Amino acid sequence: MSRRFSFQVTATDGRARLGAISTPRGEIRTPAFMPVGTAATVKAMLPESVRATGADILLGNTYHLMLRPTAERIARLGGLHRFMNWERPILTDSGGFQVMSLADLRKLTEEGVTFRSHIDGSRHHLSPERSMEIQRLLGSDIVMAFDECPALPATEADVAKSMRLSMRWAQRSRDAFGDRPGHALFGIMQGGVTRELREESAAALRAIGFDGYAIGGLAVGEGQEAMFGVLDYAPGYLPEDRPRYLMGVGKPDDIVGAVERGVDMMDCVLPSRSGRTGQAWTRRGQVNIKNARHMDDPRPLDEDCTCPACRNYSRAYLHHVFRAQEIIASMLLTWHNLHYYQQLMQGLRDAIAEGRLAGFVAGFHAARAAGDI
Ligand code: GUN
Ligand code: ZN
Repeated sequence: MSRRFSFQVTATDGRARLGAISTPRGEIRTPAFMPVGTAATVKAMLPESVRATGADILLGNTYHLMLRPTAERIARLGGLHRFMNWERPILTDSGGFQVMSLADLRKLTEEGVTFRSHIDGSRHHLSPERSMEIQRLLGSDIVMAFDECPALPATEADVAKSMRLSMRWAQRSRDAFGDRPGHALFGIMQGGVTRELREESAAALRAIGFDGYAIGGLAVGEGQEAMFGVLDYAPGYLPEDRPRYLMGVGKPDDIVGAVERGVDMMDCVLPSRSGRTGQAWTRRGQVNIKNARHMDDPRPLDEDCTCPACRNYSRAYLHHVFRAQEIIASMLLTWHNLHYYQQLMQGLRDAIAEGRLAGFVAGFHAARAAGDI
């Protein structure tokens, strides 16, 4: 296997791209969906089960792991892959975004950010240099630059100021990361929904030079129409020969729209989190398994789905274990949702390969419009 990190685009259909990222820990088929394993686990799933759904890569979080159990402890125990029993690629987010949404008493300066842990109130510090060190200690395969994403609502001046700080931090992340063969560093574009700011951010990142480029600062409350508006031009500002990663997206229709617009990678807590709250995602849209209409229903959640929840259990059973707060409810619904997401990605990849993405997308929307059975 190659010791280096590389990316090849093998087919295109419109702006959509089919490709593969090669890493020493295995290949990532793109467009890729990355399940979120924030605290060194994809909640309610064994790693081998996550793999069985079709995932090539997981996302981990600097912020959560630095607080508990700490990056130094994970490093002493052999790194994050061994610690959580996932040997394939791991991408880690850099922490700044999570500090802004989760931590208490945040203080932001040019140097970095100090904050109190949402777990025990203890004081911590993150900077581009410390984030690179933590992601190295974790053994992350794809390291994200340390950035800041302004909370909405924000003025255009605030978004511009924050984006320029993130671009200075991107340079410091690049300098601190150094040269680590087989590991990749991705820059993160910011700039909100303002085209000129997105363009300026992309130019700054390209001048620094990264192994891949993320589009950050979206899916933070601007709405799908505004997000697609940015995705109509933003991927085009990034180098064609590097992966493009849309952070924190999304619902199935967000994913389809992003892939149509040239995005190669995505991550979202939605399939795993909503599995734990009784929401299932299917070809025919969302199903709330808590609903009393499922109580006597012997049929599977989706008769065409091959996941264990759909092959072996009825809607009535899923409804019962969810109502009874049995742990298996989270396990089965999370498995189904991750399986559905990975099936969707495989469908998109096959469609791009065969030059029939438009037809695939039309079928995707038609099935959802028909609604749950
Ligand atoms: N996750 C979702 N959006 C973002 C972002 O803008 N920056 C980072 N670092 N992570 C994210
Ligand atoms: Zn299923």
